Amino acid sequence: MGPGPPGPCVQARRGHGFGAAEPAHLDSADVSREPMIAPSLLSADFARLAEESQRVADADWLHFDVMDAHFVPNLTFGLPVMEAVQAVSPIPLDAHLMIENPERWAPGYAEAGARNVTVHAEACADPRAVARDIRAAGALAGLALKPRTALEAHLEVLRDFDTLLVMSVEPGFGGQSFIADVLTKVRTARRLVDAGDLTVLVEIDGGINADTIEQAAEAGVDMFVAGSAVYGADDPAKAIAGLRAQAAAAMSG
Ligand code: DX5
Ligand code: ZN
Repeated sequence: MGPGPPGPCVQARRGHGFGAAEPAHLDSADVSREPMIAPSLLSADFARLAEESQRVADADWLHFDVMDAHFVPNLTFGLPVMEAVQAVSPIPLDAHLMIENPERWAPGYAEAGARNVTVHAEACADPRAVARDIRAAGALAGLALKPRTALEAHLEVLRDFDTLLVMSVEPGFGGQSFIADVLTKVRTARRLVDAGDLTVLVEIDGGINADTIEQAAEAGVDMFVAGSAVYGADDPAKAIAGLRAQAAAAMSG
């Protein structure tokens, strides 16, 4: 790691200097229990992505939902758009790939500079190989689980990942209602992380807002993705601060 403040957030251990980069990875020292917020560009104005990234400069990661109209029914944006946002975003990008065949595409998002690249367990034939390729390309590797996908079946492969994305809506669209049942998975993951049996950042995605963030924080989430709750607000920066304060209070309470 180069010099610089450790910061409240997660540091990817990137390679430095020239030549082959050291694979990125997360270790337990990187994860503080400060709540982190990742606004989702899915709810932003697509005609103004540069400005929309600036409006959430106080957040931790900028969540970038890639949908292919196959793995999910919706279609959004892909690598060229992420590269354009990456070039202007004041905060690191968090690529969430809701696509088939992530083996083929995920390393490209890492090479383009995303801090974290998440693939869906349901879409991967060999999740370990994908994690290895993402890390080798310099990003943290994330594994996402749809609401009805069990955590237990994926605990072993999670040892090769840095982030666990628990979906709290069916992937595909913003603005859906939070599915509280998924918090069982969050509690299990939190227990394993706190016991030192697993080293992942626990991220939740879908229906996070002022009414739901506290229960997610109590269950043990580290990183909260919020689309409509941030970009649907008159003042996104204020919405981020409000969500962060609510989560921090729930974590310490
Ligand atoms: C849904 C996406 C989410 C979405 C969340 O498939 O993965 O990231 O943007 O939007 P909200 O916060 O509105 O539920
Ligand atoms: Zn997402």
